[in-house]
Amino acid sequence: MSLPNKLIAILVTLAVSQTGFVLVSQAQSVGLGTPISESQLTDFDQIAGPDGSGLPAGSGTALQGQAVFETQCAVCHALGGEGSSAATVLVGGDMHSEGTPLRTVGSYWPYASTLFDYIRRAMPATAPKSLSDVEVYQVTAYVLYLNGIIDQYKLLNSDSLTEIDMPNKDGFIDFSQTQ
Ligand code: HEC
Repeated sequence: MSLPNKLIAILVTLAVSQTGFVLVSQAQSVGLGTPISESQLTDFDQIAGPDGSGLPAGSGTALQGQAVFETQCAVCHALGGEGSSAATVLVGGDMHSEGTPLRTVGSYWPYASTLFDYIRRAMPATAPKSLSDVEVYQVTAYVLYLNGIIDQYKLLNSDSLTEIDMPNKDGFIDFSQTQ
């Protein structure tokens, strides 16, 4: 008897001795699932870092992104990105207020590349990963444009995205090298 079969036999014996009836179906199907395929894996492997690594091909401008924003994002973030709560406001904000700082793309996010990454993997909240890479470039440009960080003609791609100076880029302390 192979080792897994032995284990199943022991489990069945235990089930019988403790409950008085046989839990054969549960014992035989241990629920280990099926191996994930390469194509399913690529769906998870879409991470773009602050240095621009992992950014896909494609490009887009805010002018093109307006339509994407209005159809896919405005229902939750409002037409001008002003949102309906602290979680959904995307523009303005203040990290220097005496009260609780309002964190937005303009006031808080240190990198434009990770803004792209976040939108690509998490938004629209009801249908993440439903936008094409080009649409993500376009709508990222539009969110940056709404914040006055780029103009509506600036073409975003894997190179230009990493060159954008975000207003709060110096507002963080790098502890990554700290022991
Ligand atoms: C169904 C509602 C909904 C839709 C549609 C939606 N979002 Fe969001 N979005 C949210 C919510 C809720 C959060 C806050 C999530 C959290 O804090 O965990 C959020 C957060 C964000 C953030 C991060 C804000 C921050 O500073 O933390 C960005 C950027 C963003 N959304 C962009 C977009 C874009 C671009 C689209 C359209 C492609 C979009 N969202 C569509 C609900 C939505």
